[in-house]
Amino acid sequence: ARSRSSHVTVVPHKVDSETRAIANGHRGGVVWLTGLSGAGKSTIAMEVERQLFLKGWQVTVLDGDNVRTGLCGDLGFSDPDRAENIRRVGEVAHLFAEAGMVVVTSFISPFRADREKVRAINPDAFHEVFVATGLNECERRDPKGLYKKARAGEISYFTGIGSAYEAPALPELALATEGKSVDESVADLLRYIENAFSLS
Ligand code: PPS
Repeated sequence: ARSRSSHVTVVPHKVDSETRAIANGHRGGVVWLTGLSGAGKSTIAMEVERQLFLKGWQVTVLDGDNVRTGLCGDLGFSDPDRAENIRRVGEVAHLFAEAGMVVVTSFISPFRADREKVRAINPDAFHEVFVATGLNECERRDPKGLYKKARAGEISYFTGIGSAYEAPALPELALATEGKSVDESVADLLRYIENAFSLS
């Protein structure tokens, strides 16, 4: 069961998703980016958000570093805390999607089981995108200097070093960023989204 609450009755909406989609010119749904720290998730997500917004789309980004200051500010990086982080974000993302938005999420989301639970909330509206930058390349980029700190033993459960990353087996889309510009990866993801969320 997804809820422990008793005496809860779901209240039906009077605006259905088809009506919202027609008004917005596109469907709503969750575009779930997953990949190592430094893979390029946030960079790609924020530029995709900008470009879709300019086209008049209802779009937003939920980003790990941002959500962890508020909604998930009580959580750290143990396995159970990461699972709870992904569970909360997954629920919120699907709520935004039901409201008609395209929600791009940018979380390492290292565990397959946690991602699959988010998919299961509404499989038709969930699109898993693997930002497939390898550990060596992420460590070479090290944009926040975190890999260096993890190697020095200053961060104990850093993904890819002291904590596992489970790559998706069958993502809806994989972005091979190595040897590509950010613009190329953004264009690949935009093409996917425009196709997946179009009305026809
Ligand atoms: S998770 O695993 O999905 O719950 O992580 P997420 O919410 O995406 O947060 C990842 C960002 O937190 C910083 N950070 C760490 N990442 C991984 N492991 C450890 N131990 C850790 N400690 C802090 C890091 O800046 C991640 O940001 P990104 O944007 O992925 O580089």
